[in-house]
Amino acid sequence: MLIAHISDTHIKPQGQLANNGRVDTAAHLARAVAHLNALKPRPDLVLVTGDLVDAGSPAEYAHLKALLAPLAMPAYLIPGNHDARDPLRTVFAEHRYLPAEGFLQYTVEGHELRLVALDTLVPGEGHGELCTARLDWLDARLAESSQPTILFMHHPPFDSGIAVMDNDYGLRDGADRLARIVRRHPNIERVLCGHLHRPIQVRWAGTIAATVPSTAHQLTLDLDPAAPLTFGFEPPAASLYQWRPGTGLVSHLSYIGDYGGPYPF
Ligand SMILES: [Fe+2]
Ligand SMILES: [Fe+2]
Repeated sequence: MLIAHISDTHIKPQGQLANNGRVDTAAHLARAVAHLNALKPRPDLVLVTGDLVDAGSPAEYAHLKALLAPLAMPAYLIPGNHDARDPLRTVFAEHRYLPAEGFLQYTVEGHELRLVALDTLVPGEGHGELCTARLDWLDARLAESSQPTILFMHHPPFDSGIAVMDNDYGLRDGADRLARIVRRHPNIERVLCGHLHRPIQVRWAGTIAATVPSTAHQLTLDLDPAAPLTFGFEPPAASLYQWRPGTGLVSHLSYIGDYGGPYPF
């Protein structure tokens, strides 16, 4: 089984650029979709871990839907801090895995890996949280199966060293209980997150937590505790997770764009 992970597509209404006119997020997503479609073997499915759009409007979700339409494999969406639950589930009504009300949490069954989606959104806020209801749901879902499992959520449950993200936009309430729940389930292979617009891996709660670059703009890597939050144009990428019997889940970073090659050795 091959799983692709992309994130932070930040789609605006058609014809509008993001971040004060600097980022053509739609063109970037179109390139990401073409990149995923051209992979051999093709991923079985794609996880899109939030900040799907920039301001949570129906027009943005309609634009996102048009941009994802050429994708040759199923996409599983979760909200980030830039999203809004009801416009998301309304525009993507045919994505039957999305609950009709409440938090946008769900499981994906029937594959070699079980997928469990968590919703860390706090409407109108940049930080995330996992309240008792969301964590009780997770606890109950994880009790159902000892199958190899991937958890995916927008806000990472760890500090990154990028100060403004950790201090102002981190996962607040619920991170400690989440760690206790995850630690009880050694079948959790990865916790996959977005939000940081960079590739980061951490040993966390007995498993590996990882983020992925944005399909568009990247946060500046500056570990100075006084650094302001800025962005730039390091290469976009998708992560690929291949389940290899006898080895387990192997991760790769697949850069989107033409960097020369392939040349024969
Ligand atoms: Fe983002
Ligand atoms: Fe975010």
